[in-house]
Amino acid sequence: MQDVLPEGGVIRKLWIGEAAKYRDHALRLDPESRRDRFGGGVSDDFVGNYVDRLITLDAVVHGFFIGGLMRGAAELRPLGLRFPRQAEAAISVEKPWQSHGVGSALLRHTLLTARNRGFRHLRMACLAENRRMQQLARKFDAELSFDFGNVVGELASSRPTPLSLMREFMADGHGFATAMLDLQSRMLRA
Ligand SMILES: CC(C)(COP(=O)(O)OP(=O)(O)OC[C@H]1O[C@@H](n2cnc3c(N)ncnc32)[C@H](O)[C@@H]1OP(=O)(O)O)[C@@H](O)C(=O)NCCC(=O)NCCS
Repeated sequence: MQDVLPEGGVIRKLWIGEAAKYRDHALRLDPESRRDRFGGGVSDDFVGNYVDRLITLDAVVHGFFIGGLMRGAAELRPLGLRFPRQAEAAISVEKPWQSHGVGSALLRHTLLTARNRGFRHLRMACLAENRRMQQLARKFDAELSFDFGNVVGELASSRPTPLSLMREFMADGHGFATAMLDLQSRMLRA
């Protein structure tokens, strides 16, 4: 998967034990982005509890990392046994990294993961006035349909294929290798 990202940035799945990185990213969001992400003004405690709960919910989180910090996130959360083919997706990018293609790349990774997990419908809670998110979703309208008439949009994803599974596998391998190199260079600098 070819991502066009700010120099030195990488997208990879979050590992078990990395919840704090997601929490710190979510807490760094400026007030407007935080409101757009959570559908209203929420407190730091709410954000912290949300991330802690999410990590126990079988969610897949992709992070955008640059300079050792997580600056963007896309989560994919199954809606549970009652809705086995449905999941909820949400994206956030810190202000200085917005409008650099990060949100698009995060959504691309999340859609591939959703497809490979067999999810047919993705729900994204998006405020009606959130034009930026709507523009972003529109970029994928060749493979997805999104109903902007509602606050909650619905995306229909395609079925997994050997090629789509291979693309996710290769992206994971690349993310792992990059994270190891980053860790190694930071240890050498220390
Ligand atoms: C919505 C959000 C995830 C988009 O992330 P991003 O990294 O800025 O997205 P991209 O740079 O990939 O841009 C995606 C598209 O949005 C549109 N866009 C980008 N910057 C924009 C701006 N300043 N104004 C309006 N539209 C803009 C463009 O159509 C762009 O596609 P293009 O560059 O191919 O033309 C980000 O703004 C964000 O985190 N917002 C706060 C949280 C939020 O709203 N989350 C969504 C609810 S879950």
